[in-house]
Amino acid sequence: MTPISKTPVPNDQSTYIADFASRSTAIEERAVAGRSNSWSATATTDEFKKGMRRLAGGVCLITTFAHDQPSGLVATSVNSLSMEPPSLLVCVGRGSNSHDSFVNSGFFCVNLLNSADEDLARLFGDPSMRAQRFAKGNWERLMTGAPALNGALANFDCKLVRQFEYGSHSIFVGEVCQIRLASEDISPLIYLNGAYTSCASGALT
Ligand SMILES: Cc1cc2nc3c(=O)[nH]c(=O)nc-3n(C[C@H](O)[C@H](O)[C@H](O)COP(=O)(O)O)c2cc1C
Repeated sequence: MTPISKTPVPNDQSTYIADFASRSTAIEERAVAGRSNSWSATATTDEFKKGMRRLAGGVCLITTFAHDQPSGLVATSVNSLSMEPPSLLVCVGRGSNSHDSFVNSGFFCVNLLNSADEDLARLFGDPSMRAQRFAKGNWERLMTGAPALNGALANFDCKLVRQFEYGSHSIFVGEVCQIRLASEDISPLIYLNGAYTSCASGALT
């Protein structure tokens, strides 16, 4: 079995990405060596989409500011990554209009929507409404300069510290520089089975 490299993670991002690629190759080689060709994938994209429709997701607007203009999209692929340092990840399609703006600015804000924000979610998921996206809602800029939605359940203002490309998407790792939390009861906007819904609100702890 090929051992996985234990090279320490350097600060320089390009070196890190090259190092990551070599470790990914090691993992793939190990899988192939251990299993010969017994896994011949049968999953189709259609089946995958149907399965993922059953995964309830909190709805976020991921925003940035590049070339003197705000941009962003609606996303459910946000996840907590690390506690030390506080970091999160988000997966963004490389074909999305704002993908390169995230890369160029080097920062983004994750705005966690509450159930009253369904209209905003629809706006940020509709390619024909790109120009109108920031006309709705109250926005301000926190530490990084990415647009933060006032009234969101939480704003996670992040600097982009890593980017990994896989398939159709990039995984962006954001180190959280500033967090702003809403003070009211929480009633998150949820996306499930291709529709927006909500779940019982609860008092903040
Ligand atoms: C509920 C919901 C969640 C989504 N989550 C993601 C996501 O996590 N990553 C992503 O790249 N696109 C996601 N999308 C799709 C983009 O928001 C959509 O394609 C958007 O139009 C892309 O922005 P653009 O029009 O500026 O290219 C999601 C769409 C919806 C409706």
